[in-house]
Amino acid sequence: MNENSLDDRIALITGSGDGMGRAHALLMAERGADIVVVDVNRRGAEETAAAVERLGRRALVCEADVAEPARAAAVVAEAVRVMGRVDILVNNAGFGQRATTPEIDEAAFDRMIAVHVKGAFFFTRAAVAGMKERRRGKIINISSIWGMSGAPVAPHYCAAKAALLGLTKAWAKEFAPWNIHVNAVAPGGVRSGGPIKMDSPEILRAKEERVPLKRYCEPREISYAVAFLASSEADFITGQVISPNGGETIVGI
Ligand SMILES: NC(=O)c1ccc[n+]([C@@H]2O[C@H](COP(=O)([O-])OP(=O)(O)OC[C@H]3O[C@@H](n4cnc5c(N)ncnc54)[C@H](O)[C@@H]3O)[C@@H](O)[C@H]2O)c1
Repeated sequence: MNENSLDDRIALITGSGDGMGRAHALLMAERGADIVVVDVNRRGAEETAAAVERLGRRALVCEADVAEPARAAAVVAEAVRVMGRVDILVNNAGFGQRATTPEIDEAAFDRMIAVHVKGAFFFTRAAVAGMKERRRGKIINISSIWGMSGAPVAPHYCAAKAALLGLTKAWAKEFAPWNIHVNAVAPGGVRSGGPIKMDSPEILRAKEERVPLKRYCEPREISYAVAFLASSEADFITGQVISPNGGETIVGI
């Protein structure tokens, strides 16, 4: 991968105040992009922005709950006003929640869908207008291995992440006439977010043993896939899902 592959691109990354979103921001900045750091957690967003600036790139902090469509429009408008445009949109903001069906009430279900699906929908709706004008754009939706395989402890999360795969394919077709590429990255186990916040070290280790490569990955290993899809090296790739997962989806007998 060319280290200047994202030179002078403007990337808006939701949920980049921590975890994988921050890793995406830093790798993209290393490869030449300026970053719009969107997060509900202002402090985390400011830390990411400071790290981006230390790499010599511009950063804009936008505090927002992605589940609010009006904020999506306002954030994209601010990004265009301050940074000039949005070339790359990464719909990454999200959260894990372990619960079985009887434990999930309407509020929990609605929140899960609102953050992951509605959030991605309205950020894309806001950002794609400028991409269409320039006839160029990259949209990357962060799904999950669980959106493909299902899991017994988070049906609402699995549904939300599967919905992102549907949106990815629909948008790839809808926006292709404007040369806008839409793909998904569906990580397996990553040492960030849910696995770190919800699993004990022993449980995490046991889960890693079930992966052919015998480990979960570091956030940056997911960022390599995201940065590739954001670059012109992926200009013939659209409507696809890349799942860096250590081989977890090929485990059978
Ligand atoms: N960690 C994993 O193993 C794993 C695996 C597959 C997919 N994912 C997905 O990857 C994405 C990033 O996960 P992570 O592990 O880096 O999580 P993380 O908790 O480390 O970081 C998530 C970031 O998103 C922000 N965020 C959460 N809800 C938000 C909202 N409503 N509006 C704005 N910002 C919000 C948080 O404040 C945080 O900064 C998520 O979509 C997650 O579902 C994670």
